[in-house]
Amino acid sequence: MPPLPRGIDLLHDPRLNKGTAFTEAERDALGLRGLLPPRVFTQAQQAQRVVESFRSKPDDLERYIYLTSLQDRNERLFYRVVMDHLEEMMPVIYTPTVGEACLRFAHIFRRPRGLYVTAQDRGRVRQVLRNWPEPEVGIVVVTDGERVLGLGDLGANGMGIPIGKLSLYTACAGVDPALGVPVMLDVGTERAELLADPLYLGLPQHRLRGAEYDALLDEFVTAVQDVFPGALIQFEDFATENAFALLGRYRDRLPAFNDDIQGTAAVVLAGLLSSGRVSGRRLQDETLLFFGAGAAATGIADLVTSALEHEGLTAGEAAQRCWFLDRQGLLVRGRGDLAPHQRRYAHDRPGLPGLLEAVLELKPTVLIGASTEGGAFTEPVIRALARFHQRPVIFPLSNPTSRSECTAAQAYRWSEGRALFASGSPFGPVEWNGRRLTPGQANNAYIFPGMGLGVIAARASRVTDAMFHLAARTLAGLVSPAALEQGLLFPPLGEIREASRAIATAVARHAWEEGLARRPRPSDVEAHVRSLMYRPEYPSYVGAGLGRLTESA
Ligand code: NAI
Repeated sequence: MPPLPRGIDLLHDPRLNKGTAFTEAERDALGLRGLLPPRVFTQAQQAQRVVESFRSKPDDLERYIYLTSLQDRNERLFYRVVMDHLEEMMPVIYTPTVGEACLRFAHIFRRPRGLYVTAQDRGRVRQVLRNWPEPEVGIVVVTDGERVLGLGDLGANGMGIPIGKLSLYTACAGVDPALGVPVMLDVGTERAELLADPLYLGLPQHRLRGAEYDALLDEFVTAVQDVFPGALIQFEDFATENAFALLGRYRDRLPAFNDDIQGTAAVVLAGLLSSGRVSGRRLQDETLLFFGAGAAATGIADLVTSALEHEGLTAGEAAQRCWFLDRQGLLVRGRGDLAPHQRRYAHDRPGLPGLLEAVLELKPTVLIGASTEGGAFTEPVIRALARFHQRPVIFPLSNPTSRSECTAAQAYRWSEGRALFASGSPFGPVEWNGRRLTPGQANNAYIFPGMGLGVIAARASRVTDAMFHLAARTLAGLVSPAALEQGLLFPPLGEIREASRAIATAVARHAWEEGLARRPRPSDVEAHVRSLMYRPEYPSYVGAGLGRLTESA
């Protein structure tokens, strides 16, 4: 354990700094006297000041900048405030505000955070990783910034994404912030404005592609395994083709997953399982129609089919439960334009021209939108769906809100209040026939933080589909009957820490049962998971020895 810094160095260490909350005794013992205003505040009082300042900012980008500077100054206070106001602050530290922050990254840049590995680091990636200051690493979140949210190629500006994701790991699941490394793999950008921007912080060059790109990725992944042994790699916001290729290449070799594909899939699977608790249908009774056949939609279908196989269906039978419509129409055999991740879902039948025709012909029980085509779930489409089924499932997942395939109010109104609804973007409650229906949000933050904590708890050597099923089942099981009654398919965000702990415990237990854990099994897995969870209370630096004290202090 390194010695505790003193004086101004202590105030400048965000992980240790307590600001005005240093006690009189600490100020004397640690050379702080005179470096702080005289009055000592509690963390709760400091938090009150932060929340007041946060709310007084003119817009969300200013709120983002304010929270980022707090994180750089006093990490525990940052997490105290974010955890206590998650519903209000999650949209600022993550989507949608983080998208705007990424667009403006070079212009709002204050202080570096995370690691930059670039196309120029070929042959020396290990050395770069060795510059990371923390002794132990549990999670590496890496992006190459090519498909940032719905904003496309943002090059090195994409660094805001792994930073935001890691903040959510801590805020939602209590992963110790010291264990996470945000990585920007800067291979260039094709975005003309960035290349022309004199303040752009990344490599001002076109993207590395093909064999050179693959070689850099390979060197990076191998270096992570050497320098941060056992660390989980989360791939984030890569372009669809690379996202699938990287997942395919690494998932069976090391602990790795892709949140855009698998995290989305698990949260949607949880929504389907919760829906099943209301409709009485088993997963194998569902017929799923996906509108859109990109990374999100096929990722969901891959996890749903693997859950169906787990229930005893063959791979072929499971795939036949899923239908897809994309810009070119229904995915059917004989279409020459299908990508590898789409082929197994091609059905042996003639095509259909549009969504309404597909609903009328296929009579799906589940309609999932991941098309980015706002308003595509029209009144005739939803009315047709609701005519065939008492409790149709309608999940318009496209973001942002303007891209949502329908609103919550439309889904409820056109299905006469019978839709089981969850969306990608948040919608407020809807009054229907004297009932108040509260739409769920299929937020990936319900899954990935708990998954990461579980992998760390067991030091799991792989992240398997079975772990994502378990995460989905665990999440769905936590929705109370009263919440289901109101239309909710996920637990409230205020309960996300408990949900993450339950997911982490299930994932870690599974890792031990399946021989995937690389640390001895504790007698009580849940207590072990709980003991790993970061809490933002300040430690006391005097009395019990002046070390880097943790939770117990
Ligand atoms: P993508 O670009 O890989 O796929 C989009 C798909 O929609 C393509 O197959 C395209 O052919 C199809 N499409 C576009 N316009 C269409 C039209 N008019 N008719 C039929 N098909 C059409 O995008 P990706 O990554 O799959 O994301 C899709 C949407 O899902 C985005 O808005 C994204 O924000 C959202 N999403 C939501 C998540 C969540 O709620 N948890 C997680 C991940 C993605």
